[in-house]
Amino acid sequence: MYLDQAATSFPKPPEVVEAMTKALTEYAANPGRSGHRMSVKANEVISQAREQLADFFGFSYPNRVCFTSNATSALNQALKGFRFQSGDHVLTTSYEHNSVRRPLENLKEKTGIKITYFDPGVGENFDMDAFERAITPHTKMIVVSHGSNLTGKITPIDEIGKLAKESGIAFLVDAAQTAGVLPINLEEMNIDLLAFPGHKGLLGPQGTGVLMVGKGVELDPIFQGGTGSRSESTQQPAVYPEFLESGTLNTPGIAGLLAGLETVKKLGLDSIYSHELQLTQKLIEGLRAIDYVTIYGPQTNRLGVVPFTIEGIDGQEIAIILDQHYNIAVRAGLHCTPIGHESIGTSESGAVRISVGPYNTEEEIEQALKAIEEIVEGYFG
Ligand SMILES: Cc1ncc(COP(=O)(O)O)c(C=O)c1O
Repeated sequence: MYLDQAATSFPKPPEVVEAMTKALTEYAANPGRSGHRMSVKANEVISQAREQLADFFGFSYPNRVCFTSNATSALNQALKGFRFQSGDHVLTTSYEHNSVRRPLENLKEKTGIKITYFDPGVGENFDMDAFERAITPHTKMIVVSHGSNLTGKITPIDEIGKLAKESGIAFLVDAAQTAGVLPINLEEMNIDLLAFPGHKGLLGPQGTGVLMVGKGVELDPIFQGGTGSRSESTQQPAVYPEFLESGTLNTPGIAGLLAGLETVKKLGLDSIYSHELQLTQKLIEGLRAIDYVTIYGPQTNRLGVVPFTIEGIDGQEIAIILDQHYNIAVRAGLHCTPIGHESIGTSESGAVRISVGPYNTEEEIEQALKAIEEIVEGYFG
């Protein structure tokens, strides 16, 4: 039983497997590099993926939909490619994934940027006034995750986008936990840079990610070469998407991502989210009824991600028992979010995280709750 959907989604829809098999067996030539038909077909599928992704996320520029290998590489490109100067300030939150925090800390060391980690708290509220007060005259970028991979808390990116626009600040959104789960409209939400993986909510394969670069932002590429175009020049072609896409693209992966996106559209975001919320509510209610269990995160306005601890039992041990004895896959530890764990008070022992997806069922949640109850009984009698 797979309850680790926040790490990557599983199972992948059969359509994704079929699309990848077709790509690998029929046309996985180097897209756009050669004039032959296989290369043209590969390029067509990739262009279709750009167009459909742009359309799905309310973005008018498919050419500025750049493929990466995961959300981390998209976030690194957005942050390290941004033209920061010493003294520039970045406003972010304490719940960010290490994929945001580490490149920011690296920029602090190398370029001399300043960073504020705003603590949005564990409840459902996000104090926009306090967040606004954290903006300084030097703030050049706001970067937030749309949904926390630790507590499932949802960030009001539409309000933050408005604030960023009014203040003339670039707005980067890490949609790793929400792409394919919650509606995101890049232009309506005033998002300048949108980074997400293809392998979580969009149901595509691992090795896929996307960075959408709004018209108003200019980045520098963090990789150069291998674009298959303008080979006579020593310079990176200044045209999107090649500008940010160095090296052979992952054609089978992108074909799978396109099929994943089509599945998400067929299922519908509303029904995906309401299904996940229903499972989450059942899980929270069940966990609340078990002695010695503490759950974290907001009551409402949350994703299908639930962290919990059992008094006196190490999180890793719980995850191992669930896996080995009950065949249930969950994730324990710090979830790449160490300051977030400090905020909820679990940085010493970590927490166990259960996360659900569109293919999980109520029966699975019941079985997981029964297993946790048995673990507690086994320890406390
Ligand atoms: C909020 C958040 N940001 C970024 C990432 C990194 O995603 P990827 O593994 O695709 O690099 C994750 C992965 O769990 C995440 O949850």
